Amino acid sequence: MKNFKNIEHIVFGRGSFNTLDKILNPHRNNNDEFIFFVVDNYFKGKELENKIPSEKKDVIRFIDVDPYEPTTEQVDQLRDEVLKNYGLPAAIVGIGGGSIMDIAKAVALMFTNEGSSVLYQGLDLIKNPGVFHIGVPTISGTGAEVSMTAVLTGPEKKLGLKCDWTIFNQVILDPDLIATVPHDKWFYTGMDTYIHCIESENGIFNNALSHAYAEQSLKLCRNIYFGDGQTPENDDKLMIASMMGGLSLTYSEVGVCHALSYGLSKVFGTKHCFANCVIFQHLDDFYSEGVSEFKQMLNKQNIKLPVGLSKEWSDDQINTMSEIAYKLSHMWRHAFGEDWQKRLSIDKLKELYKRM
Ligand SMILES: [Fe+2]
Repeated sequence: MKNFKNIEHIVFGRGSFNTLDKILNPHRNNNDEFIFFVVDNYFKGKELENKIPSEKKDVIRFIDVDPYEPTTEQVDQLRDEVLKNYGLPAAIVGIGGGSIMDIAKAVALMFTNEGSSVLYQGLDLIKNPGVFHIGVPTISGTGAEVSMTAVLTGPEKKLGLKCDWTIFNQVILDPDLIATVPHDKWFYTGMDTYIHCIESENGIFNNALSHAYAEQSLKLCRNIYFGDGQTPENDDKLMIASMMGGLSLTYSEVGVCHALSYGLSKVFGTKHCFANCVIFQHLDDFYSEGVSEFKQMLNKQNIKLPVGLSKEWSDDQINTMSEIAYKLSHMWRHAFGEDWQKRLSIDKLKELYKRM
Protein backbone atom coordinates (compact mmCIF):
# COMPACT_ATOMS: atom_id res chain seq x y z
CA MET A 1 0.00 0.00 0.00
CA LYS A 2 1.15 3.52 -0.73
CA ASN A 3 -0.20 6.60 1.01
CA PHE A 4 0.02 9.12 -1.79
CA LYS A 5 -0.63 12.81 -1.95
CA ASN A 6 -2.46 14.25 -4.96
CA ILE A 7 -2.44 17.70 -6.54
CA GLU A 8 -4.37 20.21 -4.41
CA HIS A 9 -6.18 21.94 -7.30
CA ILE A 10 -6.72 21.11 -10.98
CA VAL A 11 -8.48 23.27 -13.54
CA PHE A 12 -9.19 21.64 -16.92
CA GLY A 13 -10.58 23.12 -20.12
CA ARG A 14 -9.90 25.20 -23.19
CA GLY A 15 -8.90 28.71 -22.11
CA SER A 16 -8.22 27.69 -18.50
CA PHE A 17 -4.74 29.26 -18.82
CA ASN A 18 -6.53 32.62 -18.50
CA THR A 19 -7.41 31.76 -14.88
CA LEU A 20 -3.71 31.79 -13.89
CA ASP A 21 -3.83 35.47 -12.89
CA LYS A 22 -6.73 34.89 -10.51
CA ILE A 23 -5.04 31.77 -9.11
CA LEU A 24 -1.81 33.69 -8.40
CA ASN A 25 -3.41 36.72 -6.74
CA PRO A 26 -3.87 35.32 -3.20
CA HIS A 27 -0.19 34.26 -3.18
CA ARG A 28 1.42 37.41 -4.54
CA ASN A 29 2.25 38.94 -1.14
CA ASN A 30 4.13 35.90 0.18
CA ASN A 31 7.92 35.73 0.67
CA ASP A 32 9.65 38.43 -1.43
CA GLU A 33 6.46 39.20 -3.35
CA PHE A 34 7.29 38.15 -6.89
CA ILE A 35 6.30 35.25 -9.13
CA PHE A 36 8.98 33.19 -10.80
CA PHE A 37 7.91 31.88 -14.24
CA VAL A 38 9.94 29.04 -15.78
CA VAL A 39 8.92 28.81 -19.43
CA ASP A 40 9.96 26.56 -22.32
CA ASN A 41 12.15 28.60 -24.67
CA TYR A 42 9.88 27.45 -27.53
CA PHE A 43 7.34 30.09 -26.42
CA LYS A 44 9.72 33.05 -26.55
CA GLY A 45 8.21 35.52 -29.00
CA LYS A 46 5.09 33.37 -29.45
CA GLU A 47 1.52 34.31 -28.59
CA LEU A 48 1.62 32.52 -25.24
CA GLU A 49 4.41 34.82 -24.00
CA ASN A 50 2.02 37.78 -24.14
CA LYS A 51 -0.62 35.85 -22.22
CA ILE A 52 1.62 35.19 -19.19
CA PRO A 53 0.05 37.28 -16.38
CA SER A 54 3.37 38.73 -15.16
CA GLU A 55 3.60 41.95 -13.16
CA LYS A 56 6.47 44.40 -12.76
CA LYS A 57 8.39 42.59 -10.00
CA ASP A 58 7.96 39.12 -11.53
CA VAL A 59 10.83 37.14 -13.03
CA ILE A 60 10.53 35.11 -16.24
CA ARG A 61 13.21 32.66 -17.38
CA PHE A 62 12.94 31.01 -20.78
CA ILE A 63 14.75 27.70 -20.69
CA ASP A 64 15.93 25.60 -23.60
CA VAL A 65 15.16 21.99 -22.67
CA ASP A 66 16.29 20.44 -25.94
CA PRO A 67 18.04 18.19 -26.62
CA TYR A 68 18.94 17.07 -23.07
CA GLU A 69 17.19 16.12 -19.84
CA PRO A 70 17.24 18.61 -16.88
CA THR A 71 20.29 18.36 -14.64
CA THR A 72 20.99 18.94 -10.94
CA GLU A 73 23.55 21.58 -11.95
CA GLN A 74 20.95 23.48 -14.01
CA VAL A 75 18.47 23.50 -11.10
CA ASP A 76 21.11 24.62 -8.56
CA GLN A 77 22.25 27.47 -10.82
CA LEU A 78 18.71 28.67 -11.45
CA ARG A 79 17.91 28.67 -7.72
CA ASP A 80 21.17 30.46 -6.80
CA GLU A 81 20.74 33.11 -9.49
CA VAL A 82 17.15 33.96 -8.50
CA LEU A 83 17.86 33.94 -4.74
CA LYS A 84 20.87 36.22 -5.19
CA ASN A 85 19.22 38.76 -7.50
CA TYR A 86 15.56 38.76 -6.44
CA GLY A 87 15.09 36.75 -3.23
CA LEU A 88 12.54 34.06 -2.41
CA PRO A 89 9.60 33.91 -4.84
CA ALA A 90 5.99 33.94 -3.66
CA ALA A 91 5.20 31.21 -6.19
CA ILE A 92 6.74 29.35 -9.12
CA VAL A 93 4.92 28.65 -12.38
CA GLY A 94 6.30 26.07 -14.82
CA ILE A 95 4.98 26.42 -18.39
CA GLY A 96 6.21 23.73 -20.77
CA GLY A 97 6.66 19.98 -21.29
CA GLY A 98 7.86 17.28 -18.90
CA SER A 99 11.35 18.77 -18.54
CA ILE A 100 9.97 22.18 -17.53
CA MET A 101 7.55 20.47 -15.10
CA ASP A 102 10.52 18.68 -13.52
CA ILE A 103 12.61 21.87 -13.33
CA ALA A 104 9.72 23.83 -11.74
CA LYS A 105 9.09 21.12 -9.15
CA ALA A 106 12.79 20.75 -8.33
CA VAL A 107 13.49 24.50 -8.10
CA ALA A 108 10.42 24.96 -5.86
CA LEU A 109 11.98 22.49 -3.40
CA MET A 110 15.54 23.74 -3.72
CA PHE A 111 14.58 27.32 -2.77
CA THR A 112 13.92 26.09 0.77
CA ASN A 113 16.47 23.29 1.06
CA GLU A 114 20.15 24.16 1.40
CA GLY A 115 22.96 22.81 -0.75
CA SER A 116 22.97 21.04 -4.08
CA SER A 117 19.96 19.12 -5.44
CA VAL A 118 22.35 16.15 -5.73
CA LEU A 119 21.95 15.73 -1.94
CA TYR A 120 18.22 15.13 -2.33
CA GLN A 121 18.08 12.68 -5.26
CA GLY A 122 16.04 9.85 -3.78
CA LEU A 123 12.95 9.20 -1.68
CA ASP A 124 11.95 11.59 1.15
CA LEU A 125 15.35 13.26 1.50
CA ILE A 126 13.91 16.81 1.23
CA LYS A 127 13.73 18.45 4.69
CA ASN A 128 11.49 21.51 4.17
CA PRO A 129 8.33 22.12 2.10
CA GLY A 130 9.01 24.03 -1.11
CA VAL A 131 7.60 27.27 -2.47
CA PHE A 132 3.99 27.20 -3.80
CA HIS A 133 4.27 25.82 -7.33
CA ILE A 134 1.97 25.60 -10.33
CA GLY A 135 2.33 23.33 -13.37
CA VAL A 136 1.01 24.33 -16.79
CA PRO A 137 1.77 21.50 -19.26
CA THR A 138 2.14 22.48 -22.92
CA ILE A 139 3.10 18.96 -24.02
CA SER A 140 1.25 15.94 -22.66
CA GLY A 141 2.54 12.48 -22.02
CA THR A 142 5.15 12.21 -19.30
CA GLY A 143 2.60 12.56 -16.51
CA ALA A 144 5.10 14.94 -14.84
CA GLU A 145 2.14 17.21 -14.07
CA VAL A 146 0.82 14.68 -11.52
CA SER A 147 3.98 12.90 -10.45
CA MET A 148 5.61 13.19 -7.02
CA THR A 149 9.03 13.02 -8.66
CA ALA A 150 11.17 15.76 -10.20
CA VAL A 151 13.53 13.71 -12.36
CA LEU A 152 17.05 15.13 -12.63
CA THR A 153 20.26 13.88 -14.15
CA GLY A 154 23.13 14.34 -11.72
CA PRO A 155 26.86 13.62 -11.92
CA GLU A 156 26.31 10.18 -10.34
CA LYS A 157 22.76 9.22 -11.20
CA LYS A 158 19.56 10.08 -13.02
CA LEU A 159 17.09 10.06 -10.15
CA GLY A 160 14.17 12.12 -8.93
CA LEU A 161 13.66 14.34 -5.90
CA LYS A 162 10.70 12.35 -4.62
CA CYS A 163 8.48 13.36 -1.71
CA ASP A 164 4.97 14.65 -0.94
CA TRP A 165 6.14 18.26 -1.33
CA THR A 166 7.23 17.66 -4.93
CA ILE A 167 3.59 17.42 -6.05
CA PHE A 168 2.26 20.63 -7.64
CA ASN A 169 -0.08 22.71 -5.48
CA GLN A 170 -2.01 23.64 -8.61
CA VAL A 171 -2.15 22.31 -12.18
CA ILE A 172 -3.74 24.06 -15.16
CA LEU A 173 -4.75 21.69 -17.97
CA ASP A 174 -5.57 23.78 -21.03
CA PRO A 175 -5.74 21.62 -24.20
CA ASP A 176 -5.27 24.75 -26.36
CA LEU A 177 -1.65 24.84 -25.18
CA ILE A 178 -0.70 21.46 -26.68
CA ALA A 179 -2.11 22.25 -30.14
CA THR A 180 1.25 23.33 -31.61
CA VAL A 181 3.36 20.32 -30.55
CA PRO A 182 5.30 18.97 -33.59
CA HIS A 183 3.99 15.63 -34.87
CA ASP A 184 7.02 13.50 -33.90
CA LYS A 185 7.25 14.95 -30.39
CA TRP A 186 3.47 14.53 -30.00
CA PHE A 187 3.94 10.84 -30.84
CA TYR A 188 6.90 10.19 -28.51
CA THR A 189 5.33 11.96 -25.53
CA GLY A 190 1.96 10.27 -26.03
CA MET A 191 3.72 6.92 -26.23
CA ASP A 192 5.38 7.63 -22.89
CA THR A 193 1.86 7.60 -21.45
CA TYR A 194 1.03 4.42 -23.37
CA ILE A 195 4.19 2.74 -22.04
CA HIS A 196 3.43 3.93 -18.47
CA CYS A 197 0.11 2.09 -18.68
CA ILE A 198 1.48 -1.10 -20.27
CA GLU A 199 4.21 -1.27 -17.63
CA SER A 200 1.92 -0.35 -14.75
CA GLU A 201 -0.49 -3.13 -15.80
CA ASN A 202 2.21 -5.79 -16.22
CA GLY A 203 3.76 -6.27 -12.83
CA ILE A 204 3.18 -7.29 -9.24
CA PHE A 205 2.25 -3.81 -7.94
CA ASN A 206 -0.73 -3.49 -10.30
CA ASN A 207 -3.99 -3.16 -8.36
CA ALA A 208 -7.61 -2.10 -8.92
CA LEU A 209 -6.77 1.59 -8.49
CA SER A 210 -3.77 1.69 -10.87
CA HIS A 211 -5.65 -0.62 -13.28
CA ALA A 212 -8.69 1.69 -13.49
CA TYR A 213 -6.50 4.66 -14.43
CA ALA A 214 -4.43 2.60 -16.92
CA GLU A 215 -7.50 1.09 -18.57
CA GLN A 216 -9.04 4.51 -19.22
CA SER A 217 -5.74 6.07 -20.29
CA LEU A 218 -5.07 3.22 -22.75
CA LYS A 219 -8.56 3.61 -24.19
CA LEU A 220 -7.87 7.31 -24.80
CA CYS A 221 -4.42 6.58 -26.33
CA ARG A 222 -5.94 4.03 -28.75
CA ASN A 223 -8.65 6.50 -29.65
CA ILE A 224 -6.07 9.16 -30.47
CA TYR A 225 -3.28 7.19 -32.15
CA PHE A 226 -5.50 4.81 -34.17
CA GLY A 227 -7.96 7.65 -34.80
CA ASP A 228 -7.61 11.07 -36.37
CA GLY A 229 -4.31 11.95 -34.67
CA GLN A 230 -3.63 15.55 -33.71
CA THR A 231 -7.05 17.21 -33.51
CA PRO A 232 -8.46 19.62 -30.90
CA GLU A 233 -10.76 16.88 -29.58
CA ASN A 234 -7.81 14.49 -29.28
CA ASP A 235 -5.75 17.15 -27.50
CA ASP A 236 -8.40 17.11 -24.75
CA LYS A 237 -8.12 13.33 -24.58
CA LEU A 238 -4.31 13.26 -24.58
CA MET A 239 -4.12 15.73 -21.72
CA ILE A 240 -6.35 13.49 -19.60
CA ALA A 241 -4.64 10.29 -20.77
CA SER A 242 -1.31 11.74 -19.62
CA MET A 243 -2.69 12.58 -16.20
CA MET A 244 -4.35 9.19 -15.76
CA GLY A 245 -1.28 7.29 -16.98
CA GLY A 246 0.78 9.25 -14.45
CA LEU A 247 -1.65 8.38 -11.66
CA SER A 248 -1.63 4.73 -12.71
CA LEU A 249 2.14 4.45 -12.40
CA THR A 250 2.06 6.41 -9.14
CA TYR A 251 -0.13 3.71 -7.58
CA SER A 252 1.78 0.89 -9.34
CA GLU A 253 5.25 1.12 -10.94
CA VAL A 254 6.97 1.33 -14.32
CA GLY A 255 9.03 -1.57 -15.65
CA VAL A 256 11.62 -2.84 -18.15
CA CYS A 257 11.41 0.00 -20.69
CA HIS A 258 11.74 2.79 -18.13
CA ALA A 259 14.63 1.09 -16.33
CA LEU A 260 16.55 0.75 -19.63
CA SER A 261 15.53 4.27 -20.62
CA TYR A 262 17.13 5.76 -17.50
CA GLY A 263 20.46 4.18 -18.51
CA LEU A 264 20.21 5.55 -22.05
CA SER A 265 19.33 9.07 -20.88
CA LYS A 266 22.07 9.13 -18.26
CA VAL A 267 24.83 8.11 -20.70
CA PHE A 268 23.68 9.93 -23.86
CA GLY A 269 21.31 12.58 -22.46
CA THR A 270 18.53 11.20 -24.70
CA LYS A 271 15.12 12.76 -24.03
CA HIS A 272 12.95 10.50 -21.90
CA CYS A 273 9.98 9.92 -24.23
CA PHE A 274 12.10 9.37 -27.33
CA ALA A 275 14.40 7.00 -25.42
CA ASN A 276 11.37 4.97 -24.32
CA CYS A 277 10.12 4.65 -27.91
CA VAL A 278 13.56 3.60 -29.19
CA ILE A 279 13.71 0.89 -26.51
CA PHE A 280 10.09 -0.29 -26.39
CA GLN A 281 10.08 -1.54 -30.00
CA HIS A 282 12.56 -4.27 -28.92
CA LEU A 283 10.73 -5.52 -25.83
CA ASP A 284 8.31 -8.04 -27.36
CA ASP A 285 9.47 -10.80 -25.03
CA PHE A 286 8.26 -8.77 -22.02
CA TYR A 287 5.22 -6.90 -23.35
CA SER A 288 4.25 -8.74 -26.55
CA GLU A 289 0.74 -7.30 -27.00
CA GLY A 290 1.81 -3.78 -26.06
CA VAL A 291 4.79 -3.82 -28.43
CA SER A 292 2.69 -5.16 -31.30
CA GLU A 293 0.09 -2.42 -30.78
CA PHE A 294 2.84 0.19 -30.42
CA LYS A 295 4.26 -0.83 -33.82
CA GLN A 296 0.80 -0.50 -35.39
CA MET A 297 0.52 3.02 -33.99
CA LEU A 298 3.99 3.85 -35.34
CA ASN A 299 2.79 2.81 -38.80
CA LYS A 300 -0.54 4.57 -38.54
CA GLN A 301 1.18 7.83 -37.54
CA ASN A 302 4.00 7.42 -40.03
CA ILE A 303 6.80 7.60 -37.48
CA LYS A 304 10.17 5.96 -38.16
CA LEU A 305 12.34 5.12 -35.18
CA PRO A 306 16.11 4.65 -35.43
CA VAL A 307 17.50 1.11 -35.15
CA GLY A 308 21.06 -0.21 -35.08
CA LEU A 309 22.18 2.50 -32.61
CA SER A 310 24.19 0.08 -30.49
CA LYS A 311 26.69 -0.46 -33.33
CA GLU A 312 28.07 2.96 -32.43
CA TRP A 313 28.19 2.29 -28.68
CA SER A 314 31.37 1.22 -26.88
CA ASP A 315 31.46 -1.71 -24.43
CA ASP A 316 32.09 0.82 -21.67
CA GLN A 317 28.95 2.75 -22.53
CA ILE A 318 26.86 -0.43 -22.66
CA ASN A 319 28.31 -1.57 -19.30
CA THR A 320 27.55 1.79 -17.69
CA MET A 321 23.97 1.84 -18.97
CA SER A 322 23.42 -1.74 -17.77
CA GLU A 323 24.75 -0.93 -14.30
CA ILE A 324 22.54 2.17 -14.03
CA ALA A 325 19.45 0.21 -15.12
CA TYR A 326 20.23 -2.74 -12.82
CA LYS A 327 20.17 -0.47 -9.76
CA LEU A 328 16.50 0.46 -10.35
CA SER A 329 15.40 -2.47 -8.20
CA HIS A 330 11.85 -1.16 -7.59
CA MET A 331 11.14 -1.35 -11.34
CA TRP A 332 12.60 -4.85 -11.68
CA ARG A 333 10.76 -6.09 -8.60
CA HIS A 334 7.52 -4.86 -10.18
CA ALA A 335 8.27 -6.36 -13.59
CA PHE A 336 9.70 -9.74 -12.49
CA GLY A 337 8.61 -10.28 -8.87
CA GLU A 338 10.44 -10.39 -5.55
CA ASP A 339 13.01 -12.85 -6.88
CA TRP A 340 13.90 -10.58 -9.83
CA GLN A 341 17.63 -11.02 -9.22
CA LYS A 342 17.31 -14.69 -10.14
CA ARG A 343 15.66 -13.71 -13.42
CA LEU A 344 17.76 -10.75 -14.47
CA SER A 345 21.53 -10.37 -14.79
CA ILE A 346 23.77 -7.52 -15.94
CA ASP A 347 24.59 -9.68 -18.98
CA LYS A 348 20.90 -9.84 -19.89
CA LEU A 349 20.74 -6.04 -19.70
CA LYS A 350 23.77 -5.74 -21.99
CA GLU A 351 22.03 -8.05 -24.45
CA LEU A 352 18.91 -5.83 -24.34
CA TYR A 353 20.95 -2.66 -25.03
CA LYS A 354 22.68 -4.42 -27.93
CA ARG A 355 19.25 -4.97 -29.55
CA MET A 356 18.86 -1.22 -30.02
FE1 LIG B 1 7.89 7.93 -18.63
